[in-house]
Amino acid sequence: METPELPLEIITYILSFLKASDRREASLASRRWYDASQDFQFQRNLTFNFPASISSLDLIRGLSRHPCCSLVINHLDGSSMSRAVLQQIGCHLGPQLKSLSLPGSSVTESSLLALLPQLTALRRLDLHGLDSLFMSGAFLSREDHRQQVRVALASLEELDLSDLRYLSDLTFNRLTGCTPRLQRLSLAGCHIAFEFDPYRGCPVGPDSSALLSLRNLRRLLQEQASTLQGLDLSRTSITPESLRSVAQVEGLSLKELRLRGCKELTDSSVEVLCKHQPGLQVLDLSACTELTYRAVLAVAVGLKGIRNLSLSRNWRVTDKGLAELMALPDLRTLDLSECLHVTGAEAVKGLSAPEPRARLETVSFKSCTYIRDLAVFSLAQLLGSSLRELDLTSCVYLTDLSVRAIATYLPGLAVLRLGWCKEITDWGLLGMEEPAKGV
Ligand SMILES: *[C@@H]1O[C@H](CO)[C@@H](O)[C@H](O)[C@H]1NC(C)=O
Ligand SMILES: *[C@@H]1O[C@H](CO)[C@@H](O)[C@H](O)[C@H]1NC(C)=O
Repeated sequence: METPELPLEIITYILSFLKASDRREASLASRRWYDASQDFQFQRNLTFNFPASISSLDLIRGLSRHPCCSLVINHLDGSSMSRAVLQQIGCHLGPQLKSLSLPGSSVTESSLLALLPQLTALRRLDLHGLDSLFMSGAFLSREDHRQQVRVALASLEELDLSDLRYLSDLTFNRLTGCTPRLQRLSLAGCHIAFEFDPYRGCPVGPDSSALLSLRNLRRLLQEQASTLQGLDLSRTSITPESLRSVAQVEGLSLKELRLRGCKELTDSSVEVLCKHQPGLQVLDLSACTELTYRAVLAVAVGLKGIRNLSLSRNWRVTDKGLAELMALPDLRTLDLSECLHVTGAEAVKGLSAPEPRARLETVSFKSCTYIRDLAVFSLAQLLGSSLRELDLTSCVYLTDLSVRAIATYLPGLAVLRLGWCKEITDWGLLGMEEPAKGV
């Protein structure tokens, strides 16, 4: 029997209840469902990701019917085809492009300068790893170019300058001088001169054309303190002293700070950070291998509004301080992966205490090999309906008992990772008792 066809509007209405990933799956059901998924209400905030090629020229032209969109274009270089791609973007998407990212590219200054002045609605610009742009040091050296770019990028909110080998005070200032209202800045993996500050004791030195200095970074933070909320200094050699001075920039009130892999940071510098930036909601301290329970306690005491905290790969972190952390009512995401000494006991203690308590949605205990069934059993009971995602990869002593507790107490769980939990059996995953041998 033929199934009656639903009207397109009804299918569109049904699709409006789905997440983008589920909508994509549903759009594969049939031509009609595909057509419904192309409704304009689902196209408002799309990111298109493709490599630069001749065929992308048509694609870009086709995108001009979207009211706004984001582009990620890979492998642009100095060729005439790449120039044509950038030209096409300026010509067809100029005033509607929200975000532009050019990973794995080596574009020339001149082709980017031909494009930027046309991107008048741009909110996010990702230039990470684009060494070709900064190598000569001449990017934006002409005042007329800066003026054009400044007009276009006046409301840019997010600038990603991570992994740029040749960024210097001079080029950094020229570019950020065109973006006066930044909310987020990434300098992850850049060579910033924290330790050796060539201007120390020299208050009005010239901008360096050779390196990016802490002094210069602080100047930007000061200038844009009223808008700046997010800073990423991951994988830099930031020293404890430098973190203190960044945390104490006048007027700066950060919501997000990423310091992944800043191996020199100490507990006392994190204590100063938490004291001076109490509004932090997202803090990534993963792979800061010198940190101990004192840093955990500093977060628990100082950052009452924290939502996302990563302490991953901090081998010296123990259970100590985790009970206090569990009293932070806004904490939603906690990453303790590869904190090898964590057993979960203090987390259980904290979650058993009277309110306020964290309502965790995402927790990772990946490679915390001291986590046992008892801890998972208690955590599952205490976290109940809030938990959406749980990573127990390589918690090698967990058995089927943990699986049963998870199935019983975590009805809202959407993602569960149990890779390398070698004691867990098929029977456990099926929710059945293993039949006794010989029966
Ligand atoms: C568009 O997507 C970005 C992140 O991808 C999100 O922050 C923003 O809120 C979205 N805007 C709308 C109108 O959905
Ligand atoms: C916070 O954590 C959640 C879950 O891991 C993640 O989806 C979200 O992007 C994180 N937010 C920020 C701002 O990092």
